[in-house]
Amino acid sequence: MVRETRLSVDQLIYPLFISEKVDDQLEVPSMPGVSQLSVRRVVDEAKAAADLGIPALLLFGIPKEKDERASQAYAPDGVTQRAVAAIKKAVPHLTVIADVCLCEYMSHGHCGVITKVDGRYQIENDASVELLVRTAISLAEAGADIVAPSDMMDGRVGAIRSGLDSHALTETAVMSYASKYSSAFYGPFRDAAESAPQFGDRSSYQMDPANALEALREVATDIEEGAELLIVKPGIAYLDILWRVKERFELPTAVYNVSGEYAMVKAAAQQGWLEEKRTVLELMTAFRRAGADLIITYWSKDLAGWLR
Ligand code: PBG
Repeated sequence: MVRETRLSVDQLIYPLFISEKVDDQLEVPSMPGVSQLSVRRVVDEAKAAADLGIPALLLFGIPKEKDERASQAYAPDGVTQRAVAAIKKAVPHLTVIADVCLCEYMSHGHCGVITKVDGRYQIENDASVELLVRTAISLAEAGADIVAPSDMMDGRVGAIRSGLDSHALTETAVMSYASKYSSAFYGPFRDAAESAPQFGDRSSYQMDPANALEALREVATDIEEGAELLIVKPGIAYLDILWRVKERFELPTAVYNVSGEYAMVKAAAQQGWLEEKRTVLELMTAFRRAGADLIITYWSKDLAGWLR
């Protein structure tokens, strides 16, 4: 009765991977219980999630063909666009959030356009933003309720907002990965999304884990540019950032309980070293206590059962 922090299924966002290369489903070895799904299977999974009371999905697509322009990210018949449309048709009341990034669609696995200048690879911020805007518009046209840019290029929130508005997509919200750190905890995700960079790393566009004030500046910029919801990512090692972001900006704030956090607990639980349910409920409660309104987690379906 006097408990201060409440956890419920309507605070959960369930991430799903849709692959153009699988017929049915393919388990991700580093994320037990998580699979890449075909478009047909993702619709079943969306229905199952909705039946459990989960209000929203976050979708990642894995195309058959990758290139250096991420063409499949903004192809009208791309795998993610088809999945979004199929889910919205089958379960219209489910909120569909489409991740907007280029890494899964780029042959080199980076989140933007890469050029080589004086023998050195470099990310082209503004050329990348153009492609991200096209991606966001095509996902919104396919029916996404919310687009969530996770690339961390500068200026992309404003560009996406005006791109959406000029295509009469004023109702589509922008949920920004406003503070996203360059983290080792994304390792298993890169297996799941087949998006590991082929050379270099993401430290020129994602944030240094040592910086907290920079995170607040990144968030302030995204809000000025039109972000309506925020994401702090990863979760466990960044609860201080989550707290500061929620306290200072008071916008709806989600925490991303990322793949490495999931894999770590799953591995320990499989060894019998941790009790999975208790550990997960404690982590989720900590996210809520630290200010998260919403939690993006691969445990969404388990939690829906545990919280019943
Ligand atoms: C795409 C993206 C990543 C994650 C979400 N969107 C990976 C990355 O930045 O390398 C990570 C999610 C997770 O680890 O669960 N840019």
